[in-house]
Amino acid sequence: MKKKVEIDWKNLGFDYMKTDQRYLSYWKDGNWDEGVLTEDNVLHLGEASPCLHYGQQCFEGLKAYRTKNGDIQLFRVDQNAKRLQDSCRRLLMPEIPDETFIKACLDVVKANEAYLPPYGSGGSLYIRPMVIGVGNSIAVKPASEFLFTVFCMPVGAYFKGGLTPVNFMVSAYDRAACYGTGQQKVGGNYAASLIAHEIAVEKGFADCIYLDPTTHTKIEEVGAANFFGITKNNCFVTPKSLSILPSITKYSLLYLAENVLGLKTSEKDVYIDELDEFSEAGACGTAAVITPIGGIEYKNKLHVFFSETEVGPITTKLYDTLTAIQLGDIEGPEGWITKL
Ligand SMILES: Cc1ncc(COP(=O)(O)O)c(C=O)c1O
Repeated sequence: MKKKVEIDWKNLGFDYMKTDQRYLSYWKDGNWDEGVLTEDNVLHLGEASPCLHYGQQCFEGLKAYRTKNGDIQLFRVDQNAKRLQDSCRRLLMPEIPDETFIKACLDVVKANEAYLPPYGSGGSLYIRPMVIGVGNSIAVKPASEFLFTVFCMPVGAYFKGGLTPVNFMVSAYDRAACYGTGQQKVGGNYAASLIAHEIAVEKGFADCIYLDPTTHTKIEEVGAANFFGITKNNCFVTPKSLSILPSITKYSLLYLAENVLGLKTSEKDVYIDELDEFSEAGACGTAAVITPIGGIEYKNKLHVFFSETEVGPITTKLYDTLTAIQLGDIEGPEGWITKL
């Protein structure tokens, strides 16, 4: 009989929950081992593991969805495999081959199927792969051993309210340096961002906006999501920069905006004092999905885009199209969906 778990699916937030099984693989002497699924959610690490001292670690985030007919599917898992490989290369860690990454994600979802929120609940199963440098070594150099693990948990909306506009404030802090690790999904970027996030939340904002680290004039990221704006003449615009995480959701939206909605698209500099060109704006990411931006506070003034309470028509269409593909209601472009 299939396992059942008692979860209030409609009221899930974005919190850790221990599920039944996680994947664990060990790298030593030049090779990844076979990998296992384990019930143990505690890692046993050497106290001088480089991931703990020097931040030699990277991670990913993707989701599995339950479709209307009960199937389970992953969204663009191959792209997460590629981005993790890029992060590994940047931090001198051994890469995880595509097949290993995809199989580990599928195996973990399958083993925790009971935790997959039902279709229509608004929830999904968030998958968190990571690679960490382990083995005791106190010198600042790459680790001699590595762990690759994948765990998962059911989640709901990242920003409370789902498709409801929220406000953001511009932060004085940078999350990443120009030629640093902003393009990679590495823990250090997030450690550097915690204080900016906390200040924004204390001031009543959902999160903060980071400007470019060199000139502080251009929008980079919206918390842990990418920015997009819709210009008054219907162009989907998103920032281009060396210190932005290449969001898989953002590239999916660029494609859908052009090929499904028939919009013009552009990746270019987005100046914080030229927000008037946009009639709508949003934050996009696996966790944020599309979160409409009501307004952005900069130099004590709140710039409101479409509305602080209503969602603009193009943002709504993009959201509907993206989520319909993720949930299997409509077919996505070739290769976007991997069925369990
Ligand atoms: C800093 C940052 N930017 C953007 C994103 C969105 O990326 P994706 O759409 O691949 O989830 C994330 C989340 O993964 C993030 O942490």
